[in-house]
Amino acid sequence: MQYILALDQGTSSSRTILFNRRGELVHSAQLEFPQYYPQASWVEHNPLEIWQSQKNTIEQVLKDSKVQLRDIAGIGITNQRETCIVWHRESGKPIYPAIVWQDRRTANYCQQLREQGHADLIQQKTGLVLDPYFSATKLAWILDHVPHARQQAENGELAFGTVDTWLAYQLSEKKLHVSDVSNASRTMLWNIHTNMWDQDLLALFGIPRQLLPEIFPSSHHFGECQLFGQAIPIASIVGDQQAALFGQACFEPGMAKNTYGTGCFMLAHTGNSCAHSTHGLISTAAAQLNLQPQYALEGSVFIGGAVVQWLRDNLHIIRNSNEVEALAESVSDSDGVIFVPAFAGLGAPYWKPDAKAAIFGLHRGTTNAHIACAAIESIAFQSAELLLAMQNDYQHPIQELRVDGGAARNNALLQFQADLLGIPIVRPRITETTALGAAYLAGLSTMIFSSVDECQQLWQEERRFLPQLSREQAQLRLNEWQKAIQSLRQY
Ligand code: G3P
Repeated sequence: MQYILALDQGTSSSRTILFNRRGELVHSAQLEFPQYYPQASWVEHNPLEIWQSQKNTIEQVLKDSKVQLRDIAGIGITNQRETCIVWHRESGKPIYPAIVWQDRRTANYCQQLREQGHADLIQQKTGLVLDPYFSATKLAWILDHVPHARQQAENGELAFGTVDTWLAYQLSEKKLHVSDVSNASRTMLWNIHTNMWDQDLLALFGIPRQLLPEIFPSSHHFGECQLFGQAIPIASIVGDQQAALFGQACFEPGMAKNTYGTGCFMLAHTGNSCAHSTHGLISTAAAQLNLQPQYALEGSVFIGGAVVQWLRDNLHIIRNSNEVEALAESVSDSDGVIFVPAFAGLGAPYWKPDAKAAIFGLHRGTTNAHIACAAIESIAFQSAELLLAMQNDYQHPIQELRVDGGAARNNALLQFQADLLGIPIVRPRITETTALGAAYLAGLSTMIFSSVDECQQLWQEERRFLPQLSREQAQLRLNEWQKAIQSLRQY
């Protein structure tokens, strides 16, 4: 048994990556799938299109790599988190499109719950901020709006899952209804202290228990799936950001990573103690190897690399995403332009679901290049605020930040990030850390990897970006950003 097949089901695309037992990437395939925006602030996916795109990439990798199925020790699943899918257990038919994590349709419901005084209890039990981002209010919305759904849910005819659960169900030919602690901790129904579904929260959101999957540690034998007639174990399930934390070998308290994907997600491991945030971060379950809970502090920014897609698809100032770096670097700075890309409201540390995006500081001489530069800077500014909140919340000093995700290829972005934060920014050799984390976790449960220490040794640094700006200059830039955020909040 030589290989692990990692399935990385993200917000914009599905990927399958084959890793060997040295943690090296052997083969990969990626397919984008459609996004649906039926109303302002709604974001949906078709669950069958998610599955089909994932299946196609699996087939592609198996075909191209010519690997023997019997040489695959296990499958690791990692996924966009919080996205909510409900389907008929028998037929496997979804009763409604997947409501994506970025969807804000339940903002008013969250506001009502806040006014009723539920936010503190929710935060104590789940570690989360009461926000439409998480699955619970999306699931309640489906039960309230799809005819007969609530009755069918109470009869046990329906199943709820985040995308990992949906993929495991499909891969196992409808047999498995499972998930792991890291995904469960994003539903707002999971108590991160007792490590169980929480009866009070189920009652508060009106969710029948029989809808929910069975939860296990992230590295675990979840059951078998059938690939071309060959039974292969599903050997890990883990939310994509917790997978990246593991893939970055951040195993010790105070080790942190930032993923520059559609959004930006910064996580700092806090070991087996759950750190409580008073600066707008959330506490979340980190990947778990056994029954011992592990925790992380997380800051989530909803629009990170997606701001580049907006420049491409809506403003048409670049033809493909790779062009943004050259355009931004064609000017020495953003010339006072500040771009706050709050297209899906503001996540951490502000949590303003109704905030709208804005570009400040435009003048007659402003060009596409200044806007592109400000867009790139916005990714670093938002990430910097997450790290500053973490430093205020957590007693362990964060000495360096490991980075990954598509936009982590952008050297200018990472240099600016180091300048703002005043700590080294470290890029690893394998930036597919999300899939790698799922592969490590699957490899540990199938004995492909002998220990966490072995995974630690496989992690290798590619480049380190050291701060070049004085702390005073960095603070001035951060002040400008925060001033823009404050103006935004007056709308
Ligand atoms: O919480 C949402 C996150 O899991 C989405 O990640 O990589 O699909 O943007 P990504």
